[in-house]
Amino acid sequence: MQPDHTSVAIVGGGPAGLLLARLLHRAGVDAVVLESRDRAYVECRQRAGILEQATVDALREAGAGARMDREGITHDGIELRFDRRAHRVDFPSLTGGRRVMVYAQTEVVKDLVALQLADGGPLLFEAEVRAVTGADTERPVVHYRHEGRDHTLSCDYVVGCDGFHGVVKRAVPEAVRSTYERVYPYSWLGVLAEAPPVYDELIYAHSERGFALASMRSPSVSRLYLQVPNGTDPGEWPDARIWDELDARLAVDAEPGWKLERGPITAKSVLPMRSHVTEPMRYGRVLLAGDAAHIVPPTGAKGLNLAAADVVVVARALTARYRDGSTALLDSYSDTCLRRVWRAEHFSYFMTTTLHADPEQSPFDTRLQLSQLEQVSNSRHAAAELAENYTGLPIPD
Ligand code: FAD
Ligand code: DHB
Repeated sequence: MQPDHTSVAIVGGGPAGLLLARLLHRAGVDAVVLESRDRAYVECRQRAGILEQATVDALREAGAGARMDREGITHDGIELRFDRRAHRVDFPSLTGGRRVMVYAQTEVVKDLVALQLADGGPLLFEAEVRAVTGADTERPVVHYRHEGRDHTLSCDYVVGCDGFHGVVKRAVPEAVRSTYERVYPYSWLGVLAEAPPVYDELIYAHSERGFALASMRSPSVSRLYLQVPNGTDPGEWPDARIWDELDARLAVDAEPGWKLERGPITAKSVLPMRSHVTEPMRYGRVLLAGDAAHIVPPTGAKGLNLAAADVVVVARALTARYRDGSTALLDSYSDTCLRRVWRAEHFSYFMTTTLHADPEQSPFDTRLQLSQLEQVSNSRHAAAELAENYTGLPIPD
């Protein structure tokens, strides 16, 4: 049975849409999630891996913290490698106790889907939203296709959690929509490998050969990234070339001959990098959240965390609206989120442009990058700023 009316129509069953559905369910607000892909696809899409404290708190509040608390790995810092040296940034001592958790987006999504389906929460897979009409009326309508037929879902509010290529943002008229964008002249080759993590924490490496990142999924699975030119075909990167390049980019003088422990590479993909913000994040009865409204390059691990923060603010605003009729939080939604979004945009841009080798870069530019990384190593203030942004700003009340 396809529902034809609900209070809140959530378009997109990625982390933003699913977390919002759970938060609204807990607050007694009825909502329907429409997701265009099938369950297996949504649960297996390899993406982010780092959760800020505020995201961890939101997942617990949504009732989705049990497996994360058992299997997630808490990290107290990251290592920066540059100029063939290593420098650790210690988060708790620089931020008054803040940390991050390594728990993959695939697992967050699996946990949220299982919860939503367990108590019969409406979640339709392979339900592709084609358009939203009536954004500026009291009864917007979502038009979608499911099981070969067209349907409509009328509602009080639509929340577009449908990612960067989603359709909900088109309900905001072009005359009131502004977009800000930057595309980077490099991509990431991301791989999953059945090999133990390189180190206890993540390593972000600047090298003249380009950026490298060593992350992890579990004590036996590594997630590794290499900067590659835009348009790279993963087929150009046989496994041995990937390992050799990681060895070269992560090398430090203090450990001559150091090499990564190799294992079978089970997935390879190329990710282009972009910064993008759509403003405003609300128009009439339509709200945008997560990647539907903003994209960051992945270097600061902010994408998933920003999406979670947006929907925490949406959930509070809709809860207030249904509990006591107050629309004040809905009215301030866009401004509240955009302040945090622009901070994360700046941090992600800073991490990206400080750590990557731009193909047009001059030796002067490289010196500036190294000077900035030195500053993070030598100045407690510079390190604290990085740590504060990386561990994430609190979600405003
Ligand atoms: P999404 O996860 O994109 O979810 C949107 C959902 O909406 C999808 O399930 C989609 O199928 C569905 N949808 C789209 N259109 C429709 C429609 N018309 N009707 C119904 N459903 C629709 N961040 C990091 O921090 N680190 C990383 O390493 C990292 N890697 C990434 C790799 C890739 C390839 C991408 C695209 C993003 C990556 N990110 C990373 C960013 C992070 O994964 C996103 O910020 C996060 O997924 C945002 O969640 P979301 O729910 O807003 O959007
Ligand atoms: C991961 C991805 C990131 O973009 C990042 O900055 C840190 C970790 C990851 O996939 O594990």
